[in-house]
Amino acid sequence: MSATDAGSSTHPTRPTPEELEGMSQQELARLAGTLDDVEVVHNAPKWPVRGTRAEKRAERGVATWFLLSALSALGFIVAFIAWPHEYVAPGEPGYGWYASYTPAIGFLFGFTVLALGIGVIAYVRKFFPEEVSVQQRHDGRSDEVDRKTVIAQLVSAGKTTDIGRRKLITRSAGAAAGIFGIGVGIAALGPLIRNPWKGGDQAALWVTPWGSVNGETVYLRRDTGILGEISRVRPEDLDPGAMETVFPYRESERGNEEALLHAQRASDTPVMLIRLRPGTQTIKRQGQENFNFGDYYAFSKICTHLGCPASLYQTQDNRILCPCHQSQFLATEYARPVFGPATRALPQLPITVDSEGYFVARSDFIEPVGPAFWERRP
Ligand code: FES
Repeated sequence: MSATDAGSSTHPTRPTPEELEGMSQQELARLAGTLDDVEVVHNAPKWPVRGTRAEKRAERGVATWFLLSALSALGFIVAFIAWPHEYVAPGEPGYGWYASYTPAIGFLFGFTVLALGIGVIAYVRKFFPEEVSVQQRHDGRSDEVDRKTVIAQLVSAGKTTDIGRRKLITRSAGAAAGIFGIGVGIAALGPLIRNPWKGGDQAALWVTPWGSVNGETVYLRRDTGILGEISRVRPEDLDPGAMETVFPYRESERGNEEALLHAQRASDTPVMLIRLRPGTQTIKRQGQENFNFGDYYAFSKICTHLGCPASLYQTQDNRILCPCHQSQFLATEYARPVFGPATRALPQLPITVDSEGYFVARSDFIEPVGPAFWERRP
């Protein structure tokens, strides 16, 4: 279709609302052309002779894209539900499956949309009539009559492609769109169906590896870069104003590389151990008055905004900074947020020093670690 600027043109007589209601789809489609000052110069059906081999081939070609889309949508649903997606560390059995989860569902989702789109375009190209029209251009928004008649025109154009008798295309397109719609619905509802609080007080969001199992002491351990090397932290290891990242460690894990690796890689274990300068004034949170050991305070490193590591500590003003969206937390005031999008204080780990002079955790965190939305309970 092409358009020309007609300058001024006379608008044809418009039907009354009663006349409009009484018109058939075909009459409305014709009226659309008239009202729009469209002159059809050439209009010929793509397949004037029905049932030829070429027409059937074209039909199969279009249906193939819809079927590919349907199969891909089915694959997406299966992968979304059944593909192993739980975290597996590099080098451990099953890491390949875990690492390919996101690429797999991304590819299947993308190919579903792509094949569906190609199918629609192929259908329009192969079955819509060849038409050349000239339309005069008007300014301003279309009125109600124009909008109604344009829809009728589109419906009429669709009917001229004989969509009603092309069962292969309608069924394959229906399957593709239907399965794709189900897949989108499952993807949207899936995270709502899983209950992160299942398990009550022992739910995964309440419990972290900092919790003691069978009363075993949990030490604060630094990462030296050598997995099997155990370096527990003592108060004299930190200068005033220093900060160190620590992970949980139990003596029963000595020599167990898998357990040591898990303690370092789990998303809820990194903790900042901060030594404030002597004489720094602090405000403690109610119920957490004895969570610190002298000038030493331990806070979760996982930002309560969106879970980035809040790993920057500014000694001069005792602020902990998250580099992702610039949230700032005040270490002297139970790590409450004082700037940026975070709304919840960084959870504080209760610590003390054992008889040998090593830092130990007195218990697990008393609140969920990570983004604030986890705090909501069912
Ligand atoms: S994740 Fe820390 S500010 Fe957004």
